[in-house]
Parts: sequence; C-alpha cells; structure tokens
Amino acid sequence: MSDLAGTFQHEAVAEAYRHRPPYPDEVFDRLEALITDEPRTVLDIGAGEGALARPLAPTVERVDAIDISPAMVDAGRNQPGGDHPNLRWQVSGIETAELDGPYALVTAGASIHWMPWQQTFARIVPHLTPNAQLVIIEHGPVDMPWWDGVAATIKRHSRNQSYNPAYSVADAIQERGLLEPTGTVRTTPITFEQRVADYIEQFHSTSSLARDLMSGEEAAEFDTAIEQAVTPYAKDGVLELQVVAQLSWGRPLAP
Ligand SMILES: C[S@@+](CC[C@H](N)C(=O)[O-])C[C@H]1O[C@@H](n2cnc3c(N)ncnc32)[C@H](O)[C@@H]1O
Repeated sequence: MSDLAGTFQHEAVAEAYRHRPPYPDEVFDRLEALITDEPRTVLDIGAGEGALARPLAPTVERVDAIDISPAMVDAGRNQPGGDHPNLRWQVSGIETAELDGPYALVTAGASIHWMPWQQTFARIVPHLTPNAQLVIIEHGPVDMPWWDGVAATIKRHSRNQSYNPAYSVADAIQERGLLEPTGTVRTTPITFEQRVADYIEQFHSTSSLARDLMSGEEAAEFDTAIEQAVTPYAKDGVLELQVVAQLSWGRPLAP
C-alpha cells in the first residue's frame, strides 16, 4: 500500500469522510440498470464507509463491501444502512479478499486508482456473471466560483504534489487491456447545501490533506485559508454545491 493510501487507516480520515457530498440518486438508478444477470449480487471494491454500498444494498440481492481499512469499515457499519442484512462488510485488500460470487456488478467509487490492477482484475474476473460490468465512479462538486482560492490553498498543503486533474483512471485501465469499455455518463448536477465548517472538514478525508499528516498549526492555517476563500459565497454559513458523478463501465478482463 502506498503511504497516501495508508491514510485511510486513520480514524480522523474515516470520521471526516461523512462530510463528503453524497452520490446523486441518479448514480444508483444507473447502477441498478447495469445489473442484467441473476443473482443481483454486487461487489464494491474499496467500499470505504459505504457511500455506494449502503444505498445499493436494499435494492439488490447482496452487496459485498470490501475495504482494506478497518477504520473506514467501522465508520460504515455505524452510518445509516450500515447494518442492512444485504450488506456484507469485509476488511481486506481486494487482492486477497474472499469473494463469494458470481457478481453481476462490480463498483469502484474513487478507489480503483489505489489498487494493484493486475492482481485486482485477476482476482475479480473469475467471480463474475456472464454480463457483469465493472463501473468506475468519481464524483464531486463542480463550477465553484470560489475554486481558485481553494485550489491555491490545496496546492500549498497537499502531500500529493503530482496530482493531475486531467488523468482518467478508466482510460488508463483500458489502455492496459483490463477493461472492454461499454459506456460512460456524467450525471445531471444536483444541488447539495453544506455548512462551511463541514465543507472544510471534508478536505481532511482526502489522503493528501489528512489532519494526521499536518501539524495542528498547519491544519488551522489550511482551515482558515479555505474559510476565507469560500465565506464570501456562503449564505448564513451555508454553501450551495452542484454535485455531479462520472461513471465509466465495461467488461473487466483477466490480465
Ligand atoms: C476515497 S475512498 C472511497 C470510498 C468509497 N468507495 C466511496 O466512494 O466513498 C478509497 C478507499 O479505497 C480503500 N482501498 C485502498 N486500497 C485498497 C485495496 N487494495 N483493497 C481494498 N480497499 C482499498 C481505502 O481504504 C479507502 O477506504
């Protein structure tokens, strides 16, 4: 595991994670429509605290939610829907997870870039139904008028100075011959209102801005700079965010 992937083991990161914006409902409609085989069983890889797995569980036969971080899985068990009978948590790297397919859908929300692709695909592919799809999902707020100020602050404090916003993990996986692409979609924006304090806190759920990577002084400096950048745009301490998700899916191939 890379050092940055390891930050998801920190309890403070798992705690801050609940402040990330929710996935739009359209994501779940799209995922359900991609399940065409029986049993309607889903494998969620790098499930984290279950932002995908928890809402999906009641609508399918079962979700196996696999994550390498005990802190993230503990957080997920305690979130709404975390104890649904259709949801089976497993703390494990996907490379060595115990799989109980066949799975009609594999979901990877903001997670597959952390995984060793050859091993991951070799592990998953034998456990799929004939028409199973792997869906790579990224989501977040767009078109933020305060973004320049926030981006400059992130740049100053991020532990990942090689971050490239133009990089597409789905394209990279296809180029390696591990995914036969079938479709992509960008969801319609939804409005999500968030308190400034929670907007600031969600940055500390990212691997490169975790509180444990900063001194208390640096974290306070980061928080103040973000607050100053966004406050002119807040109404009564609340920001209005437009959240979209990008889904890319296809047939996973064995290496
Ligand atoms: C950014 S979080 C995404 C969580 C969730 N899928 C979501 O959409 O909110 C990435 C997760 O991938 C997990 N992860 C990283 N490497 C992994 C691996 N090799 N096997 C399983 N989980 C892994 C991390 O522990 C972390 O919880």
